[in-house]
Amino acid sequence: MPTAMSEREHWTSRIGFILAAVGSAVGLGNIWSFPFQTATNGGAAFVLVYLLVVVLVGFPAMLMEFTIGRRGQSNPVKAFDNIGFGNWSFSGAFGLVGTLVTLAFYSIVGGWVLSYILGSVTGAYFGDAGAYFGSIATGPPAVVGHAIFMALTIGIVALGITGGIERATKVMVPAIIVLLAGLSAWAFTLSGASAGYEYYLTPDFDILSSNLDSIIPYAVGQAFFTLSLGFSTMIAYSSYLDRDDSLPADSGAIVIVNTAVALLAGFVVFPVLSTIGVNPGSGGAGTAFTSLAGAFGQLTGGAILGFVFFVTLLFAGLSSSISLLEVPVSYVSETYGYERSRVAVGLGTGIFLLGLPATISQTTFSWYNAIVFNFIIPVTVLMFALFVGWVASDQLSEELSLGSSFGDTFTVSWLWWVRLVIPVAIGLTLVLGIQSLLLKGGIIDAAIILG
Ligand code: TRP
Repeated sequence: MPTAMSEREHWTSRIGFILAAVGSAVGLGNIWSFPFQTATNGGAAFVLVYLLVVVLVGFPAMLMEFTIGRRGQSNPVKAFDNIGFGNWSFSGAFGLVGTLVTLAFYSIVGGWVLSYILGSVTGAYFGDAGAYFGSIATGPPAVVGHAIFMALTIGIVALGITGGIERATKVMVPAIIVLLAGLSAWAFTLSGASAGYEYYLTPDFDILSSNLDSIIPYAVGQAFFTLSLGFSTMIAYSSYLDRDDSLPADSGAIVIVNTAVALLAGFVVFPVLSTIGVNPGSGGAGTAFTSLAGAFGQLTGGAILGFVFFVTLLFAGLSSSISLLEVPVSYVSETYGYERSRVAVGLGTGIFLLGLPATISQTTFSWYNAIVFNFIIPVTVLMFALFVGWVASDQLSEELSLGSSFGDTFTVSWLWWVRLVIPVAIGLTLVLGIQSLLLKGGIIDAAIILG
């Protein structure tokens, strides 16, 4: 185990790093939230906006965290110190707080997924998936699910970067892709498949243009969330990288795989829903646990497929939750010299307790999500952008070019992009997000999460 003073652990291979970062990025956001948001926001037209945002905002923002992490060679708080600007440590610390709050509600959803895996075996949700969701989403079943999911997360993180995280993601990430590909191949054979694809792939620009003020902030927020940005996570992960790695190439690979998984999830969800005659645009993300689960109950072989779908969702959730816990754990154990496994248990228990109020009411649950999505993430990314663009720009643009074959033009354009475009995009997101929160009279994310 590395201590504060000794040599730090490094990823055993570049692919180990990419898989762990992909494992962090590919999560419930891709499979559970993305297809349903696409459905409600105008199908392919939304996908187009989302892809643009991922490339124009997500990719450069990921490079900000990678340069801070690799330059700083430490946890997201000390990294700023090592770069020579200790007074910016608060921004990394802010991101760490974000991981704690996120994991608190993320784990509850993980618990729901566990209940659905069980339900696929017992058939409990086949008759009335909506009622089943109602019975497990809050109260004692939600607490038990949350506890088990947290215990699994703690167990993996306690084993360390190479023994736990790298090993777990090496199995889970390929499994997610193979299982989703298998499910989409099965979905292709369904009678309603072509109607589903049509829904997914036909752009409806009317819905898009009349809701642009809520779609843009959502797309930016979702791009950050799905790429695990604004949490210091990518700062922490890239701090275990060697200097001969190309940051733009790694980041490109992570963005591409993450996006591909989200798109692939759509190829499972849309054919299934249209086969049983549910309008995919009729619900929000909660549809995964109601309409989609209900569909598994009606289709031949649906029990097995439902099982496979929810196991895939579990892997996606776990490979993300371990990265949510890893970062605060390595921070505490590096800073105070406590043993990693103890810190994992201690912090994990704290997060479990923090999540408890959100198992009581779904409104509280939505608030956790809204605070993270609309406030913590954009504010943290904004701080990182100002830091990279205007404070430590010399060191960090040099860091970007190390090991990269992308050339100076790329580095300079990136720097100006980070200086100007990213802050404006985030400013717009914050303003529009707050506005639609007030005008539309609800928490946007309540809609995102619960439909
Ligand atoms: N990217 C994850 C998902 O799409 C969720 C997430 C957001 C996350 N921020 C994170 C995971 C930080 C790990 C670390 O579901």
